[in-house]
Amino acid sequence: MCGIVGYAGPRDATDVLVGGLKRLEYRGYDSAGVAVITPDGSLAVHKRAGKLGVLERDLQRSPMPQSATGIGHTRWATHGGPTDGNAHPHLGDDGRLALIHNGIIENFAPLKEELLAEGAEFTSETDTEVAALLLGREFGRTKDLLSAFRAVVGRLHGAFTLLAVHADEPGLVVGARRNSPLVVGLGEGEQFLGSDVAAFVQYTRRAMAIGQDQIVAIRPDGIELTTFDGEPVQGEEYEVAWDAAAAEKGGWSSFMAKEISEEPEALEQTLLGRVHDGLVVLDEIGGGFPDDVLRSVDRIVLLGAGTSAYSGLLGKYTIEKWAGVPVEVELAHEFRYRDPVLGPNTLVASISQSGETMDTLMAVKYARERGARTLSICNTQGSTIPRESDAVLYTRAGPEVAVASTKAFTAQAVALYLFGLHLGRVRGVLPDGESRAMVAELQALPEKLRQVLTQGDEVREMARQMSDTRSVLFLGRHVGYPVALEGALKLKELAYIHAEGFAAGELKHGPIALIEPGQRVFVIVPSPRDTSSLHPKVVSNIQEIRARGAYVLAIAEEGDVAVLPYADEVLRIPLAGTMFEPLLAVALLQQFAMELAAAKGLDVDQPRNLAKSVTVE
Ligand code: G6P
Repeated sequence: MCGIVGYAGPRDATDVLVGGLKRLEYRGYDSAGVAVITPDGSLAVHKRAGKLGVLERDLQRSPMPQSATGIGHTRWATHGGPTDGNAHPHLGDDGRLALIHNGIIENFAPLKEELLAEGAEFTSETDTEVAALLLGREFGRTKDLLSAFRAVVGRLHGAFTLLAVHADEPGLVVGARRNSPLVVGLGEGEQFLGSDVAAFVQYTRRAMAIGQDQIVAIRPDGIELTTFDGEPVQGEEYEVAWDAAAAEKGGWSSFMAKEISEEPEALEQTLLGRVHDGLVVLDEIGGGFPDDVLRSVDRIVLLGAGTSAYSGLLGKYTIEKWAGVPVEVELAHEFRYRDPVLGPNTLVASISQSGETMDTLMAVKYARERGARTLSICNTQGSTIPRESDAVLYTRAGPEVAVASTKAFTAQAVALYLFGLHLGRVRGVLPDGESRAMVAELQALPEKLRQVLTQGDEVREMARQMSDTRSVLFLGRHVGYPVALEGALKLKELAYIHAEGFAAGELKHGPIALIEPGQRVFVIVPSPRDTSSLHPKVVSNIQEIRARGAYVLAIAEEGDVAVLPYADEVLRIPLAGTMFEPLLAVALLQQFAMELAAAKGLDVDQPRNLAKSVTVE
């Protein structure tokens, strides 16, 4: 939520900043701006409401002066609407200092009062401008950007990443972070700052994570990292595992289309190196969760938000089945406000694509404070949540740029499945033979997913015919239930259509009242081979809604002919084990939501009002 870029080096700063913002636009896209220090020692600023493209067109018409230092911002509005005036950067009183911000400055009101009393003039409705004005004034006293920055940052409460430049100190960008992301890109004779590595990976894959409450100063020849109090700290360097091409759209019509197509590979990568002799071995979590600790776990709480919480629901079914430990799934933002009961044997596993979602981060911190052990399931190297957790199990889906999550969801589910199998083996409750059979199913998934994705044309046609539809329901049972929830969420996010997911068994307890002639209902049909006989029950549910006029779109296993008399349309998934079919079915619903949004002429990658990485509570 809000993308931030900083640069100091020999390249043209505006090019680097705008290029970085393009890759960070998923974090917010209601306005954008850049500020650079010009060769004649002044500050040039350009900012515009609207998507980055508006700013880019302006800059093509009237380019910024050549510059070697600058900052850039793409915004997701919190305080003040998406206007030119509220766009970042914000300036100090004399227009020589520029500052950008991601997060919320919670004590901005008293600070604003103080500044107004001193005669300051505000030009925006943002909380950010308070920091810019304070910093400009502090610089006036100290004539030193870094010490002025330290003084101001110490006065701010809330969550923030701040970057600032001053025209009197060309070649220097200062940055601070508290509960909001910031990483450094380490180059040769040039340095970068970004909300995530996508901002600079095209120039360098050497990165350094910035810890909580730390300040960084970048200059072309190096970086300086300290605490808010000025104590030097040693940063943790790492190599980014993917290259710039991974975050490019390539020939695809949208990032989402590309990312759905990458799901099989995301699963392969997530499995890589984690299976030994047909069994799952997760050495990487051994630091925080050695086997004796895993054996003593008596309860697991899975936390996440949005799509990540739904992958947690899938994890619940599998972990309980394979490891025999009770699992609860909770929305991270509900968790910490209700005095949850946590003990030393509670394992709290958070699930987050970005590793920066504020709700999830706060829930993890809270769980740790209350004595629980924390595991992070995360897709983003060096992000905050893994750093705040006892151990991390990375999904390796590669960069996900489209705001609504697709490949990260399936990779998260696979990571949870791996964890369930590891836990079941370590605790001695899952026989090796059964474990090996599940691993074989997991390893077969990528290929089956490739087959599923070949139905793209059919799904597109189905979506086109439904472009005027105003409401779609999704029914699933057992592991099909999380798929129904995720299918509905995707459609809401992308196509702005009212959509609800229900457990099929719940239908008769209320939702069936929604069925009227023509109502579109997706039904995720369990395998007829499943011994728990859910298949006939779901087929009965289909008949119940058909009897009331519903138009049924079934997702059913190949060869399942029992659904044919009752379904209006059928999409097929290859045969897989009960626990694995959801990961095939969900890809069809992702494609469907994407195609319906496209048929309505909507921006699939950047749906209205959303942001990918929500770093405010
Ligand atoms: C936002 C995004 C969702 C995402 C959720 C959790 O709401 O729009 O697509 O599922 O955040 O994000 P995380 O990065 O924690 O998985």
